[in-house]
Amino acid sequence: MTWDPRSLPDLAGRVYLVTGSNAGLGYFACEQLVRAGARVIMSARHPNRLSAARAAIRRRVPDAAPDATEPLILDTSNLGSVRSAAASVRGRGALDGVLLNAGIVHAPKTRQTTIDGHEVVFATNALGHFALAGELLTALAEAGADAGPTGGAGPTGGAGRTGRMVWVGSMSASLTPYDPVDPQLADGYSAWRAYVQSKIATAALGFEADRRLREYAVPVASVVAHPGYSTGGRTPGIAGVNEPSRVKRFTDNLQAVLAQSKEHGAWPLVRALTDPAVEGGEFWGPRTGSRGAPRRQTAAKITRDPAVAARLWDVAETATGVRWPFEAAAQLAVGRSTT
Ligand SMILES: NC(=O)c1ccc[n+]([C@@H]2O[C@H](COP(=O)([O-])OP(=O)(O)OC[C@H]3O[C@@H](n4cnc5c(N)ncnc54)[C@H](OP(=O)(O)O)[C@@H]3O)[C@@H](O)[C@H]2O)c1
Repeated sequence: MTWDPRSLPDLAGRVYLVTGSNAGLGYFACEQLVRAGARVIMSARHPNRLSAARAAIRRRVPDAAPDATEPLILDTSNLGSVRSAAASVRGRGALDGVLLNAGIVHAPKTRQTTIDGHEVVFATNALGHFALAGELLTALAEAGADAGPTGGAGPTGGAGRTGRMVWVGSMSASLTPYDPVDPQLADGYSAWRAYVQSKIATAALGFEADRRLREYAVPVASVVAHPGYSTGGRTPGIAGVNEPSRVKRFTDNLQAVLAQSKEHGAWPLVRALTDPAVEGGEFWGPRTGSRGAPRRQTAAKITRDPAVAARLWDVAETATGVRWPFEAAAQLAVGRSTT
């Protein structure tokens, strides 16, 4: 089946949260969701960048409702920021889906740590999203439960409506499948290793989340998606959102055979978030691996290894102090569907 965000299902009445909304794939995912009628909580760590991105959506989608986007300040590298942002989102009611997109793509050359004491790339890309998804689990379960017993609110994320979380992985996990035995890279730090390990951890946690959600019969699906190779220089210029230099446009266009725009790179992420046919535990990406229309794929073996994932889950729980409320989310769903 072909996929085009101009023919998304009608998302009127749906609410999504996107991390890293102010630029790149996150921005375009928000724009595509708004075009389909969804209300989108756009989050970013910097208020001015967030305002610029919301203004761009107002310009580019002039028919959107005035409240089509809502702002939320969220720094995924800071666990205090994650907790307070999640509390604010829970206070806004049920959440149909969260796109765990924010990330450091160009890791620092030398190891750096966050205010919480964690290696910054692992913290930003994996730990912050693990904490956020756990803190939002009951809000996501409410969306699944609100669909009612005939709404397909099963844990598979099949034909009906379920809460959905989408984790953003990367092809780099197949290129250099490091085993993240030392995910904080206390020894042997390199920028590439830090990035790849953070993405392996992200995907492994996404698949592990789905196994655990099924085990507890929580009506939330966890899906992993990746954007292939998507560059700013092959992406439309948008004031305040994507303003590549001429040199970047030139060099990125030299890679046209491999690379696509971030607008297209957002397609598999949005499909994973909204397509009713997508199931929890699946992996979605562009057709050729690096570019093209979204399709279901096989994730790197290391990300599918349950032993690696269980180890990472323990690391993430200890590092963040967040225990996912599986039982509460499952019970909330049962309670709502029987009333
Ligand atoms: N582009 C690709 O080819 C590719 C391939 C595989 C995977 N990915 C993944 O896709 C995701 C988005 O990548 P992209 O290409 O769109 O990158 P991008 O253009 O650099 O955008 C990254 C976004 O994440 C935000 N961010 C970074 N650190 C943050 C933090 N601590 N708290 C909150 N937001 C933060 C950035 O905000 P600021 O503007 O404030 O920095 C920005 O909005 C990443 O997870 C990346 O690993 C991308």
